[in-house]
Amino acid sequence: MKKSSAPGKIILFGEHAVVYGRPALAVPVTQIHVDVEITDSARKGIWIHAPAINLHAELNTLPSDHAVASVFNNLFFLLRVSPFPNLEVNINSTIPVASGLGSGAAVTVALLRALSSFLLRPMSDDEINAFAYDIEKIHHGTPSGIDNTVITYAKPVYFIKNQLIETFTVSVPFTIVIGNTGMPAPTKESVGDVRTLWEADKAKWEGVFDEVGELVKEARRNVESGKWMEIGGLMNQNHDLLKEMTVSSAELDILVSAARKAGVLGAKLSGGGRGGNMIALVESESAESVSEALIRAGAKSTIITTIK
Ligand code: MEV
Repeated sequence: MKKSSAPGKIILFGEHAVVYGRPALAVPVTQIHVDVEITDSARKGIWIHAPAINLHAELNTLPSDHAVASVFNNLFFLLRVSPFPNLEVNINSTIPVASGLGSGAAVTVALLRALSSFLLRPMSDDEINAFAYDIEKIHHGTPSGIDNTVITYAKPVYFIKNQLIETFTVSVPFTIVIGNTGMPAPTKESVGDVRTLWEADKAKWEGVFDEVGELVKEARRNVESGKWMEIGGLMNQNHDLLKEMTVSSAELDILVSAARKAGVLGAKLSGGGRGGNMIALVESESAESVSEALIRAGAKSTIITTIK
C-alpha cells in the first residue's frame, strides 16, 4: 500500500499578473489536503474512488482528458508501464473543489507521489512539479505554474514563471481568514478573459501588471522582515487591481467589504476569481469574529489559517 498527501494553497498576492511574468506570493494551507491511498486489487483494472467529486469508476471508462485519468495515462506513458497494474485508488479531499484553493493541483501531486512510489519509481519534488505543471497545462490553458509549485514543495513561494523556485521566510507568523463564496471559480475562463483584455490593449495591461508586481515585491519585504501588519493595505490595493482585470464578482466584493467592516487589516480575492475564495489578514484575536462576519455576509465556509 502507498499513501501520499498534498496541501491546499492560497495566493497572497499577484494572481493573474503572474501569468505575464510578474512575481506572486503563495503559501500552502495544510488544514485542507488531498490524501491518496493505493493498494493492489483482486479485480481487473484501476478502480478510482474520489467521493468529493462523486467519482467511482474504472480508469478505462473515463475520457482520456479527464483530470484524474490524465495523471494515470501520462505517468504510465512516461514510465512505460505496460500492462497496467490492477489497483484500488482512493482519493479523499478536504479542499473545496473549483474554489481557487488548488484542489486540482493537489490531486495531481498526491497521485503522482503515491503512484510513482507504488511503481517503485519514486519521483523527486522537482520531477513531480514539472510533471504536475504539464498536467495543469492540459486542463487550465496557460497557467503560470504557481499552484503546482506551492503545493509540491508545501512551502511559501515567491514565484516568477519559468524561473528557479524561491521559497521565502515568514519571520513572524500571521493569521489569514479564508472565506468561500460557494460559487465555482472558473480559473481557465478568468485567465482567458484577462488574456483577451491584454491582447486588446497590451500597453495598458502591462502597466497594471507592473503595479501588481511592485506590490508583491513590497509585500515580500514586509513578510520577510516581520512587518506583516503592513501588508493589509497592499492586499486592498491588489484587490482593486484584480477588479480592474474584471476577475472579481459581486459575491467576492460582498465578502471583501464585510471583512473590512469587521476590522481586518486588509482583504482581497485569492486565486482565479469570479467565485472561489477571498482572504483577509487579521490580528489573531479577531479571527473568530471575522469568520463569523463572513458567514453572516454569505460565505459558505471559512478557514482560519496561520502562515508561518
Ligand atoms: C490561479 O491560482 C492563479 C492564476 O494566476 C492562474 C495561474 O497563475 O496559473 C489566476
